Amino acid sequence: CGIVGVTGVGDALPYLLQGLQKLEYRGYDSAGVFLTDASGKNELIKEKGRVSKLAEKAKKAGFNGTAGIAHTRWATHGNVTVENAHPQKSANDRFFLVHNGVIENYKELKDTYLKDVHFISETDTEVAVQLVNHFAEEGMSTEDAFRKMISMLEGNSAYGFLLVDAKDPETLYVAKKKSPLLIGVSDHGYAVTSDAAAMIDLTKDFVELRDGDLAIVKPDSLTIFDANGDAVNREPFTLEIDPEDTDKGAYPYYMLKEVDEQAIVARNIASHYYDEDGNLQGIGCAITDKMKEADRLYIVAAGTSYHAGLVGKRYFEQWAKIPTAVHISSEFAYDQPMLSEKPFFIFLSQSGETADSREVLDNVKKQGFPALTLANVMNSTLTREADFALPLLAGPEIAVASTKAYTAQVIVQAILASALGNPGFDLKAELAKVAVEIQAITDDKEKFKAIAEDALADQHSAFYIGRGLDACVALEAALKLKEISYIQTEGFAAGELKHGTISLIEDGTPVFALLTQKKTEGLLRGEVAQVAARGANTIVFASKSVAKEGDAFVLPEVNELLMPLLAVIPTQLIAYYATLARGLDVDRPRNLAKSVTVQ
Ligand code: G6P
Repeated sequence: CGIVGVTGVGDALPYLLQGLQKLEYRGYDSAGVFLTDASGKNELIKEKGRVSKLAEKAKKAGFNGTAGIAHTRWATHGNVTVENAHPQKSANDRFFLVHNGVIENYKELKDTYLKDVHFISETDTEVAVQLVNHFAEEGMSTEDAFRKMISMLEGNSAYGFLLVDAKDPETLYVAKKKSPLLIGVSDHGYAVTSDAAAMIDLTKDFVELRDGDLAIVKPDSLTIFDANGDAVNREPFTLEIDPEDTDKGAYPYYMLKEVDEQAIVARNIASHYYDEDGNLQGIGCAITDKMKEADRLYIVAAGTSYHAGLVGKRYFEQWAKIPTAVHISSEFAYDQPMLSEKPFFIFLSQSGETADSREVLDNVKKQGFPALTLANVMNSTLTREADFALPLLAGPEIAVASTKAYTAQVIVQAILASALGNPGFDLKAELAKVAVEIQAITDDKEKFKAIAEDALADQHSAFYIGRGLDACVALEAALKLKEISYIQTEGFAAGELKHGTISLIEDGTPVFALLTQKKTEGLLRGEVAQVAARGANTIVFASKSVAKEGDAFVLPEVNELLMPLLAVIPTQLIAYYATLARGLDVDRPRNLAKSVTVQ
């Protein structure tokens, strides 16, 4: 979910709507805005679906307000309905609240304190705002009632709250725990947002709130209290972001722009991590020394980042000679495996905000283990809270389906592993070649359009298969295709198919095979033949030295261990064009969010 709020900035509505548009990547199943002005006039507008629908409704209402709060939702508690959209309000229309996160004990709170209150929504957030009202009715000030409500949240509850009291209309009450919140500071007023990029039209200066902080934001003043309740002074930082980076320019979708940017991303990463003489820079001995002390590396991540970790494992094991395990963060968080004696943790994340990964970081910090975050968004929670952080340098990634962040994660892991042990070849030169070849593949996109339209037009299921590193890429390829085209796709270790899954192959089932690893070439060809014999439509993407006549695409060749960087590109384009052919919104697949800040 995404949050924005403003006060003292003149007309509030345009800032709030622009902010919500930029936050849609955090969820887009419903949205809402509460506007108010100094006279106490106010308006609550909510709508199911995209922010553009809310914007139409809000513009028709004709009230801009001088302060307000707004929210774009990714449903957790309660279906996608107008009632469940935020802001949620209290019974007597006095308090209005937007919330990111989850309140674990909301049922108990409701049963204990709010038995007689009539609830309109099914959300945990309505419980929070009704509780504030409950305590205010008992005679507490708004600040005390807000504090009291927060003190009652238990367990793994996480929140970014933004509250308005209609009786004190231009003041915003803000609180944060485990959910990112920043305060934008400008010459004329303040903004509150869950992502600084959403408010860059107002300011580039932001104060970052910490867990347990509570802030009171008025049109001309900002007061922050820390977790102990002491007033604190926090220096703002200046966001370095070019508004054009978040613009899709002439591209029809962000995803295609981001796929095309991958060659540039590869070059940018190399020029950041190597100096002109080809020496490594920017990693620092503090990191490499700690990693060398470790007897095992644990890579922890979710989604596409997890798949990038599966590839990175090979670099750490083969070059750095450190055993490496890769884990899904939501599993690791509550089912921690037996650890080695000297573990070192690597968190991989595009956003740096994934709640599942943050939970693991929290746990391992408590156990005293060192952690490094590789993230695309620096200054994010995972980068701040780990001992070390390195940037992925992919530039803003807006499309929900991650592409260039995957590529960046694989490259940065390779560079980091090469700082720990010699790869046995010139990695910098090879990465330069990777950039050239990525460019060549993306230039050939019409081929993948034709393959996608031909193979996937009427299909309800598909497979990606491979062995070794190709099996890792198959998982990512399948995720990409299923998450945006809704074609049920499995990524599979090819040798395992015959132990059950091959029974799903029917006449015409598309099976994409990735073939870049020489050692298993013969075996993989055999597996392609096995599914073809059962009616599958086989489509092989093979690297040059192992390609055969009839293969659908010949991949240019770089060092075998770096082939995932090339093999993934056709699969991204296949997913893109299959989705386009189905008339779906490539950038905004149903039910998903770009950054998942709830567990
Ligand atoms: C969400 C996104 C995925 C992403 C995953 C992990 O589910 O839709 O594309 O891979 O989160 O996100 P992170 O920001 O930690 O890489």
